[in-house]
Amino acid sequence: MAVKIKTLSGYFHEYQKSIVNPEQFWQQQAEDFFWRKKCDCVLDWDFEEPRIEWFKGGKLNITENIFERQLFTRKNQAAIIWEPNNPEDDGVTLTYTQLFEKVKQFANVLLQNNIKKGDRVALYMPMIPELVIAMLACARIGAIHSIVFAGFSSNALADRIIDAQAKLVIASDGAFRGKKSIPIKSVVDEALKKCDSVEKVIVKKRTGEAIQMKEGRDFWWDEICEGVSTENEAEVMDAEDPLFILYTSGSTDKPKGVVHTTGGYMVYTSYTFRNVFQYSEGDVYFCSADIGWVTGHSYIVYGPLLSGATSLMFEGIPTWPDAGRFWDIVEKHKVNQFYTAPTAIRALMAEGNQFVENKVLKSLKVLGTVGEPINEEAWHWYHDHVGKNRCPIVDTWWQTETGGILISPMAGITPTKPSYATLPLPGIQPIIVDPEGNELKGNSVEGNLCIKFPWPGMTRTLYGDHKRFRQTYFSTYNGYYFTGDGVKRDEDGYYRILGRVDDVINVSGHRMGTAEVENAINEHPRVVESAVVGYPHDIKGQGIFAFAVCNDVDESTSLEGIIQSIKIGVNNIIGPIARPDKILIVSDLPKTRSGKIMRRILRKIASGDYSNFGDTSTLLDPGVVEEIIEKSKL
Ligand code: WT7
Repeated sequence: MAVKIKTLSGYFHEYQKSIVNPEQFWQQQAEDFFWRKKCDCVLDWDFEEPRIEWFKGGKLNITENIFERQLFTRKNQAAIIWEPNNPEDDGVTLTYTQLFEKVKQFANVLLQNNIKKGDRVALYMPMIPELVIAMLACARIGAIHSIVFAGFSSNALADRIIDAQAKLVIASDGAFRGKKSIPIKSVVDEALKKCDSVEKVIVKKRTGEAIQMKEGRDFWWDEICEGVSTENEAEVMDAEDPLFILYTSGSTDKPKGVVHTTGGYMVYTSYTFRNVFQYSEGDVYFCSADIGWVTGHSYIVYGPLLSGATSLMFEGIPTWPDAGRFWDIVEKHKVNQFYTAPTAIRALMAEGNQFVENKVLKSLKVLGTVGEPINEEAWHWYHDHVGKNRCPIVDTWWQTETGGILISPMAGITPTKPSYATLPLPGIQPIIVDPEGNELKGNSVEGNLCIKFPWPGMTRTLYGDHKRFRQTYFSTYNGYYFTGDGVKRDEDGYYRILGRVDDVINVSGHRMGTAEVENAINEHPRVVESAVVGYPHDIKGQGIFAFAVCNDVDESTSLEGIIQSIKIGVNNIIGPIARPDKILIVSDLPKTRSGKIMRRILRKIASGDYSNFGDTSTLLDPGVVEEIIEKSKL
């Protein structure tokens, strides 16, 4: 039987076991699940190749483990509580039985529409129950879902559909976001002009706005489901069959299709969910993430539902109708565990305490954060004003690639420290290395964060590009998984994540590759070249600062006009999340004699720090730096 850790000594005991004999440890965690066939080998791996296989030879279906395995005890228990964008509208609660019926029916719809095991299905949808139904229906038949966050542009969507060669797109007509309604189907239409692989589109009606339906290609969700049987036998999957692809930004231009497989991901997300959040029978758990990101995959859908939890999903935004919306939801549904991003906490903190003070939040037991480093001020505000000084905060560090949480307190068990992710979970072996890859042992050290041993939830490859997988994660430091994060281990052995050390910036908890934004900026007809860096931003954690060199610029040029049109361009090419906060038009970029842009200098200028640029002896033209400094001060 899988263990739920209850005490600090229990944690140390389990951790020790997981290090001494990882195979035995994870086999034990896997025993609670329903395997059509038990595995022949718990772990087979080689970080050099790299190759990672968990529960090899095991056969299962993840939805059978959510539904069939748990139905005897959870029939009428709420699986999903859906809170709509508008608080005046009715929500929806789906019990495990009701959700199961809908998943089986939609699984049959997929089969009838020629979707088979291994096919890719792209989901571009708002936070509505049909998103969960569609993803689980894919998993039910062994199709690989690729969810694209509905804030991405048609170009970004098209890139992802093409890379995955998706056969089907599932969408809605539009989406409600606060007082706005945003188009969804028309974005899909635009994207599909470039995608030959897509045969059909299924559209769930949400906003009722006018859209075009292409005869023979587009079908309404409600019509295509009509009369379809709810009898469905789950497809038997290999433990290492892919469950989903999720695209994420890296330091080079193209987003990467992170692949997660079935067995290990199942065991890992549920294990970490139960232990980190200390979920108890009957609790209501609310994660405010969007399912379009990995947090939603692992900790709205798979982790909670595999653990028999009641998971609340919210369609709207934290600041509408006012900045008290999260707390209204907590009060209304008596939420016990609440999980959000530091950027949301900072945004709500800036609105003032009046929105949280008069709310009844006594149901809360645990608060969580994820996505970016949380500054001490935000940590304390969350702790004092939301948690009323009595709820432990779990600062959970992980990544799209890790599948689940790796370093985090266990709520109420691990003593916390503001801004510290604290200690590794059982099964996780973090190490800190210096730039040459030497392990820095002991406490009070700082360096780059690597993981030296596999865990079941980790990504296995990048879709269609195993070479890039090796290159990105396993080649920087030989034999280790490199996270891309800087970290400090303090005198107590506690981990504090310091942020990315590569060309990735973290904007409001979302990862953006600087090269990706630069490519979008460079599409502008006036732009010759550009360089993008992050800078400290009060609410977003990091903001996007772009330096652009443009042609035909003289005194009479309206720089403001160019800046606005660059922003619109980035918006159209990637989406609003990539729009630069600041753009400075300069006549040249600081480069080394070999032509490499010195980003270190640009990062300093972007953060308003003009002192000590370090070694500038390789700079081709120091005058360039002077000019940029002058312009940035204006
Ligand atoms: C990057 C991963 C994990 C789901 C959401 C983001 C940063 C994540 C923390 C944290 C400090 C954090 C890291 C990481 N990050 N959690 N608790 N403290 N930094 O997933 O988009 O794959 O981004 O987010 O820099 O590498 P992602």
